[in-house]
Amino acid sequence: MVFMDRARGAFYLENEKMTYAFAVRAPELTEHLWFGARTGHDLPCGQQITSGEAHAVQYPVPDGGYVNRDQIPQEFHQSYAGDFGEPSLLIERADGVRRMDFCYEGYELPEQKPELPGMPQVRADENGRTLLVHYSAGGIRMTQHYTVYDDCSAVVRSVTLENRTSEPVILRRCASFAFSLLPQEFRDMPAGRSEWQAVYLAGGSGSEGNVQRGDLDRGTFSIGSRRGVSSASLNPFLAVVTPQTTETSGPAYGVNLVWSGSFTIRAEITANRNLRLSGGLDDTDFAWRLGPGETFRSPEAVLTYSEEGLSGMSREFHTLYRRHLIPRQFVFRPRPVVINHWEATRFRFTGEQLRRVIDAAAEVPGIDAFILDDGWFGAREDSTSSLGDWVVNEEKLGGSLQELSDYVHARGMQFGLWFEPEMISKDSALYRAHPDWVIRTPDAEPLTGRDQLVLDLANPAVVDSLAESVQAILRETRIEIVKWDCNRDLSEGFSPYLPPDRQAEQSVRQTLGFYALCEKLVRGNPEILFEGCASGGSRFDAGMLYYFPQIWTSDQTDAPARTFIQYGMSMCYPLSAQSCHVTSSPNRRAAHRTPLAARADIAMLGAFGYELDLSAMEPEARAELPKQIGAYRTDVQLILKGDLYRLASPAEGNYFAFELVRPDRTEAKITVMRELELFNRTRLRLCPQGLEPDACYRCPELDLRMQGRSWMHVGFLPRFTPGDFQTAVYHFVKE
Ligand code: DGJ
Repeated sequence: MVFMDRARGAFYLENEKMTYAFAVRAPELTEHLWFGARTGHDLPCGQQITSGEAHAVQYPVPDGGYVNRDQIPQEFHQSYAGDFGEPSLLIERADGVRRMDFCYEGYELPEQKPELPGMPQVRADENGRTLLVHYSAGGIRMTQHYTVYDDCSAVVRSVTLENRTSEPVILRRCASFAFSLLPQEFRDMPAGRSEWQAVYLAGGSGSEGNVQRGDLDRGTFSIGSRRGVSSASLNPFLAVVTPQTTETSGPAYGVNLVWSGSFTIRAEITANRNLRLSGGLDDTDFAWRLGPGETFRSPEAVLTYSEEGLSGMSREFHTLYRRHLIPRQFVFRPRPVVINHWEATRFRFTGEQLRRVIDAAAEVPGIDAFILDDGWFGAREDSTSSLGDWVVNEEKLGGSLQELSDYVHARGMQFGLWFEPEMISKDSALYRAHPDWVIRTPDAEPLTGRDQLVLDLANPAVVDSLAESVQAILRETRIEIVKWDCNRDLSEGFSPYLPPDRQAEQSVRQTLGFYALCEKLVRGNPEILFEGCASGGSRFDAGMLYYFPQIWTSDQTDAPARTFIQYGMSMCYPLSAQSCHVTSSPNRRAAHRTPLAARADIAMLGAFGYELDLSAMEPEARAELPKQIGAYRTDVQLILKGDLYRLASPAEGNYFAFELVRPDRTEAKITVMRELELFNRTRLRLCPQGLEPDACYRCPELDLRMQGRSWMHVGFLPRFTPGDFQTAVYHFVKE
């Protein structure tokens, strides 16, 4: 899995599907050789095309010659060394020097992947191998970390910087990774044509995960968040593909950060048309003071490669995250089917109302858990008060929390509870006691969002106190599920706790404080299933998945709108990580009616549940629920372990279709939605993928039996009940 050609100083990280290679050409120059389809161990250096050599800044190399660093693909790009592309490192010494000539020092192949203390990380497990490559410059030691797997086409990268001098240095940029792709065509590109395209996820709260695709041209394209959370506006995911890449074929490179805070991912087409990629912490206003003897670790970045287009790339991410990132105790366990009252009651409810919802749920065989959402603590009747006061409002609940939990358990269900730990209301006992615990600038009123302020998690005392107040509830009450919400972006950029010369570390330290809280509460309670949430999917990222096996995907729960969101999020996150509920129709965010069956079919493509007033449902509709839950349970292994093929994108037409195939290919399931019933339009033909070509598959819904190759080439015409927003489901069972 890690092959070294000592004579040529070359390293090959490889498995059956891919090779990632680089070579130490000279101590000062590590050239990135290749990332892509599997190659031999014989890759040459210096394959890049050159341009403008005559005026290049000459960087001396030991053989007496010069190189033009600017044009050489490298494993990291240092500043002020004749490289004018995007640097991946910007370091300033105490004497103001910013040119760093990092020289190769050696490598290690540790038995275990070194731990990333207090941060989310991909596990190496038994299928991974880690390579550490050490460099140093003027007493600063840098280690590039690489982990490669034999069960998925991915490389996990990160960087450690250690200050071995007696003076502090300032880190202004520390990208988790950098590598370059050489031009596809070794000739000038005609105007208006690009060799590479970027695919990424844009949106907002309630419209997360819209797939964007656009040409990359000379210069730098970047996506990022400066919101303190990874954000729904741009997810920390970027794919680069060729214009010919489709869902099923062509090269697709994926980048995803294991980080839940502000970030930047850059894709630059350099002067000689390399595509230089890098990414990690947002560095718009970043300056980390690394004192003598201190170490800084970047978050991890996951790089995937597939020749099978975007769906292939997604399957690599899904495999990696299911096997090596999401907590093992939950990842392959069927998740509880929940009932949540939020959309039915919002903040204002009575204990009696809750008990009605619980009673109605108890009558539906198969509902596993009741989740008590926002509004159970302090004096919370709307968004203006009580965040931070994690004290049960017994008057409102009509008894203690334990009594409510007992009421739920007595009806055969688990009990789940909502928290928003990182936030604080001005109208709260906590704020009155500790106004200095809030992120705020000393001479300005802190800005509110959803009426709330943000606790200063750079301050360990705040983290400890919060952990204790939440833990007290978890200790005193029988709780199996926690929904952890976060309903605003961060502003101010100032921590009252940090000294002036560390204020430009605030955003990173806030995220590290959030992880410290997760270490205590989530990893400290391994038997509790924690669901992430941030006004829906405003913090849906791989960092979260290390702690939270599932995340509430969006507050948009209207099924047709959800197809766009679930489609987009599946680009890099497995379906089992997407929490999806059936809600009433029309709901708050949709004027139209969506059939109950369609709402269930779409919600069943994730961690399934209901979020409506069951007691107000028509009896005929309620009678459908046990059947829906039964269908979900029958297919749950496909959600947990299946390979995803995206057959139709709602953004590209009138249909949405997902296919899930069991890894042993004995079974597949297609869920398709037709948005509008339009008169006399060409019908959709669906061709299943991923079946065994020579095996026979029976489709009970079509009452048809064909060879895998026939299904995959000829396909079938799905049939829908008349009307808009109808779904149909087809199974393919190997005989
Ligand atoms: C936003 C979440 O996305 C909702 O599901 C709900 O939990 C509310 N917050 C509660 O305030």
